[in-house]
Amino acid sequence: MSQPESSDTHFFNSFSVVLGILIAFTICLFAFARGLGREYQLRDVRDDPILKQEVKQNTTPFAREAVAGQDNSALAITAAPAGGASGSAAAIPTTGEQAFKEVCSACHAAGLNGAPKAGDKAAWAPRIAQGKDTLYKDAINGKGLMPPRGGTTWPDATIRMTVDYMVSLAK
Ligand code: HEC
Repeated sequence: MSQPESSDTHFFNSFSVVLGILIAFTICLFAFARGLGREYQLRDVRDDPILKQEVKQNTTPFAREAVAGQDNSALAITAAPAGGASGSAAAIPTTGEQAFKEVCSACHAAGLNGAPKAGDKAAWAPRIAQGKDTLYKDAINGKGLMPPRGGTTWPDATIRMTVDYMVSLAK
């Protein structure tokens, strides 16, 4: 005696189909997101200048050894470590461009944390409109996520010169 399909079986079958479709959809979404993310993660996360600098700092050997009978000239002690990333007083840049490249570009080259991107006219126009004095003041005292003097101990004149350089890039 063949019974008509019970409503439970019918429910179970439709439920499995819906579940199956949703799972397949989730897998597709996941694959799609991975595909999209690959490009942006590489650009924005792994190529992040601050991360790169940190990796470089953390992977540079902190001790070097002189080996007898080999060329040890690279180990000669110099008066001031060149290009200190910390922007110590020992290494005050002489041009705005140099200062920008050494420190400010860490945030302003890629526009990190909402920093106005160097050369991005739209981002700079409203800031330039505040007047140079405000830009100098904010660069020296800090503003929001912008650290005072970009985290350096450079004198006001150097900071002003660097602001001038960054403004000139956005003209
Ligand atoms: C740690 C990241 C970081 C570094 C390093 C940095 N900046 Fe900034 N800067 C920012 C951010 C974020 C803003 C946006 C602040 C806001 O508007 O809230 C900003 C804004 C500015 C502004 C615009 C201020 C205004 O009034 O709108 C100037 C000018 C500036 N920075 C100059 C510099 C200079 C010069 C240096 C290097 C000495 C530097 N920055 C280094 C993150 C940084």
